[in-house]
Amino acid sequence: MSGFGNTSRNDIWWVRPLLVFLGLSSFIVYATWAALQGEHYAIGPYLSPFYSPEIFGSSPHSWFGPKPSWWPMVLPFSPAMLILWAPGGMRFTCYYYRGAYYKSFWADPPACAVSEPRKTYLGENSFPLIMQNIHRYFLYLAVIFVFFLAHDAWKAMWFADPLTGEQTFGVGVGTLVLTLNATLLGGYTFGCHSFRHLIGGFKDRLSKSPVQRKLYNCASCLNRRHMNWAWFSLFGVMFADLYVRLCSMGIWTDWRIF
Ligand code: FES
Repeated sequence: MSGFGNTSRNDIWWVRPLLVFLGLSSFIVYATWAALQGEHYAIGPYLSPFYSPEIFGSSPHSWFGPKPSWWPMVLPFSPAMLILWAPGGMRFTCYYYRGAYYKSFWADPPACAVSEPRKTYLGENSFPLIMQNIHRYFLYLAVIFVFFLAHDAWKAMWFADPLTGEQTFGVGVGTLVLTLNATLLGGYTFGCHSFRHLIGGFKDRLSKSPVQRKLYNCASCLNRRHMNWAWFSLFGVMFADLYVRLCSMGIWTDWRIF
């Protein structure tokens, strides 16, 4: 069937690509804005996931202190810019998102059995889309990030006493937000196709080790809902940044549960 958008489908096939377009666009706009702010990303024991790990920065969570003196004057500085490329790269090259944004952003095709605007399709076997095969390397980095975020959730359970400065165990709404964020990102990352291959065995064979088989089954179980994990974790990480930001700006007050 020729002519962009022609189809004999009579269902509302365009709703899903439209929702994907709106969801991903909102995330890209918000994440870019938040990453460039360079402030209001931490308060007390809470650190925004967009800024974790904070390699250089002005908050007490920073590993190596404030912005380094060698940072080029012409470049704006934000601790998020040093790290966000890794989890961002994993999402951009994710097998699920690729299928979703090829449809909703490139309309190639906009949906199954709906005609597309181009006549040629070179696919992921040639440049530039062959670069998508870098996904597994982004996954290796993203796995490390999940552990950083889990550690942030743990740190978010320790509050400094305002008088003595002593650390006491507690739980605030921010603790729950950061814990939920780490859980959702863990579910998304450990359900990745490449992660299944990484832990399941060798090149094209499933390992005979019962431990590896169990891990493979767990990852496969998460993988069956990979799309849900992808969306929930996307909005979860955005909300976690917003929560820390608004608390840090004094617009929201973190409610201490105990
Ligand atoms: Fe989606 Fe790897 S396939 S994160």
